[in-house]
Amino acid sequence: MIKRRDFLHQGAMGATALLLAQKIGWAAAANSTAADSRIEVLFDEPLGTISPTIYGHFTENLGGVLYDGVWVGENSPVPNIDGLRKSLIEHMRQIKAPVIRYPGGCFADTYDWRDGIGPADKRPRRTNFWANSESKDAPPDHSFDPNQVGTNEFVHFCKLIGAEPYLAANVRTLPASAFQQWVEYCNSPAGSTTLADARAAAGYPDAFGVKYWGVGNESWGCGGEFTPQEYAEQFRRYATWLPAYGDTLHLIASGPNTDDWNWTRGFLTEVLLKGPEELNSIYGLALHHYAWDMSRGKTTDWVAAKGDALKFDSVDWYELLRQGDRMEGLVTGHWQVMSEFDPEHRVKLVVDEWGPWYRPGSEATPGDLFEQTPTLRDAVFSGMTLDIFNRNPEKVAMANCAQLINCLNSLYLAHEDKFIVTPVGHVFDLYASHQGGQSLRTIFSAPTLNYDRDGSPATFWGLRGSASVRDKSLTITVVNPSVSEPRLAEIALRGATVSDASMRFLSDADIHAHNTFAQPDAVVPQTKLLSVSGGTLAIEFPPASVAAVSIQLS
Ligand code: AHR
Repeated sequence: MIKRRDFLHQGAMGATALLLAQKIGWAAAANSTAADSRIEVLFDEPLGTISPTIYGHFTENLGGVLYDGVWVGENSPVPNIDGLRKSLIEHMRQIKAPVIRYPGGCFADTYDWRDGIGPADKRPRRTNFWANSESKDAPPDHSFDPNQVGTNEFVHFCKLIGAEPYLAANVRTLPASAFQQWVEYCNSPAGSTTLADARAAAGYPDAFGVKYWGVGNESWGCGGEFTPQEYAEQFRRYATWLPAYGDTLHLIASGPNTDDWNWTRGFLTEVLLKGPEELNSIYGLALHHYAWDMSRGKTTDWVAAKGDALKFDSVDWYELLRQGDRMEGLVTGHWQVMSEFDPEHRVKLVVDEWGPWYRPGSEATPGDLFEQTPTLRDAVFSGMTLDIFNRNPEKVAMANCAQLINCLNSLYLAHEDKFIVTPVGHVFDLYASHQGGQSLRTIFSAPTLNYDRDGSPATFWGLRGSASVRDKSLTITVVNPSVSEPRLAEIALRGATVSDASMRFLSDADIHAHNTFAQPDAVVPQTKLLSVSGGTLAIEFPPASVAAVSIQLS
């Protein structure tokens, strides 16, 4: 049996019937005018400001993420800005991408940042951490890192987008001094140090001012197989007396895998042996949660339990959402454990890897490791997850969807001159107006969904989402997880009045709908103007949909 941690340690109803049912269900319910659901937004119950960085991204040096995804090279016929894929930059500007994590992932704990600076033609080639997992179809630069993308190129990419860089340091195979020097290279002012001069000589006289630094990655697994106590000792060595150059460094400690409460408890116990002030050096604790176990209790094997990205039935649809929906309990559960040690909650949660993880087979570019084709199911999953973060603004300071392009829950798929936005990418566009908004407690009431899980009755909630307000603009994002039933919801604003409203949403009669290089616009947001009568609003949310309602308040 393969477990996820072992895998990482090694480094290495039929569709037609369902479609019919959906169409019948949708048409039948669309004729009904009685609301079956209700969304109440409580303006006098603010939950906190939604940190823009929960809409963050992740680009690991893995498969086709960097080489072919982000980087095409300066001499490429593919439109680029200094070697970086232009269409990607433009789309990321549009969704207001706030932060990007790099260079891993597991890759980070083998990476020497010094390989990626200096003249590009003098940089060494190295065996990539993921080389053993690469297939024969993969291009050589996926297994053997050409180091054409290094710190300069990555930070330049972030600055072109207007995003903050989040660099993950190598704890497993480099000493703490290498981390300190990476900070120095990035942040020391021109003329102050040899490393600052090296940066300036490469064309970057202004300090990068990198604020977010990860101290290792998955240190319970590929990042060193540490116990939480051992890792806490490492963390202290890496975090002590770091040069800050006037900026506050936000250090992110490697945190738990899913529901590993022992990791959170063990790490904080050990850190606090040196006293409560040790908490001041930790900005965030990184939680990772992937939805990968689609076996319905038949196995917990990391490979065998995976489902297919494109071939699934309605039960698989709900099971994936159920796996993702665990996120709320993970956020509140780890927060609860953290409160035992840090009652003032100086340390926040940083969910720096999240998303579904399917078995190989749906790659847009054959040979791209961990690439999968996101469908409408993944869009609904992603909306649901972002809503969980929106509802917990005081707990979650940052989150990074795994990953940005050509890997797992990709917002974009690209190969050579081909580039498409996936349904997940469209969700980030729909949700962008939540960034920096005041999250409001919102009550969703809807009929519970019932389905048959291999002969046993199972349920899933009927409608959920989140709401935030900024000035006179209210955004309510709503997920209808039902594969067949629309939901007609009355919107009740407690403490404000609607003036105008419109909605953008993703949905399709086929729950498998997805975009491809040949059909890039099969799933795109649709817009609906909503009629407000007498200050009240009722909205129909199609089956299998994720929606963003924009309301102007009077
Ligand atoms: O996102 C792919 C891999 O999943 C990352 O490298 C690792 O951190 C996680 O286990």
